[in-house]
Amino acid sequence: MSPLFASRPPVCRPLSVADADAAAAIHAEGFARGWPAGDLESLILDASVVADGCFSAGWLGGLVGFALSRAAGDEAEILSICVRRSEQGRGVGAALLGRHLARVGQRGARQLFLEVEEGNAAAIALYRRFGFQDVGRRKSYYHKPGGGVLDALVMRRPLG
Ligand SMILES: CC(C)(COP(=O)(O)OP(=O)(O)OC[C@H]1O[C@@H](n2cnc3c(N)ncnc32)[C@H](O)[C@@H]1OP(=O)(O)O)[C@@H](O)C(=O)NCCC(=O)NCCS
Repeated sequence: MSPLFASRPPVCRPLSVADADAAAAIHAEGFARGWPAGDLESLILDASVVADGCFSAGWLGGLVGFALSRAAGDEAEILSICVRRSEQGRGVGAALLGRHLARVGQRGARQLFLEVEEGNAAAIALYRRFGFQDVGRRKSYYHKPGGGVLDALVMRRPLG
């Protein structure tokens, strides 16, 4: 964990529907195609979805990042992980993913998959740190808003 959080680590807990607006705002900062708060609300309420948030340890305790995965049988897939831009690079993503992996594993999933845009250095570094390995590549998977296409790396990590 980052030394910046040595004294006041973020507090991670499951998301509730009350967090949907804040999660949508964070998602809009992180991705070109946003998720409306209503979609996030539906995902948080979906029994097959594991939804975790990290909240600042300050007295306001605002949402600083969230992770969502869908679990089905012994496999699960990360749908999204995103940290508020102003909080990136301070260990929130690592705290969040550590907590999230444990919770997804508790659902009985034995393998966790994800897709990540090639060139997303921060996300790839985070996933590799947590033991995800490359298992495939989807060619021309992401269409950038300004034109251009990028491949998706498919990564996998055992759970449990
Ligand atoms: C990916 C993301 C969740 C990481 O969250 P974060 O809070 O910044 O991550 P952390 O501070 O915990 O750092 C995690 C690791 O990533 C590395 N990292 C962080 N930012 C980086 C950057 N810009 N370039 C390279 N590595 C970076 C850190 O060094 C750390 O690795 P280390 O522990 O081996 O040093 C965050 O950057 C984000 O929300 N990005 C936008 C949304 C996104 O792309 N989500 C992933 C979609 S698949």
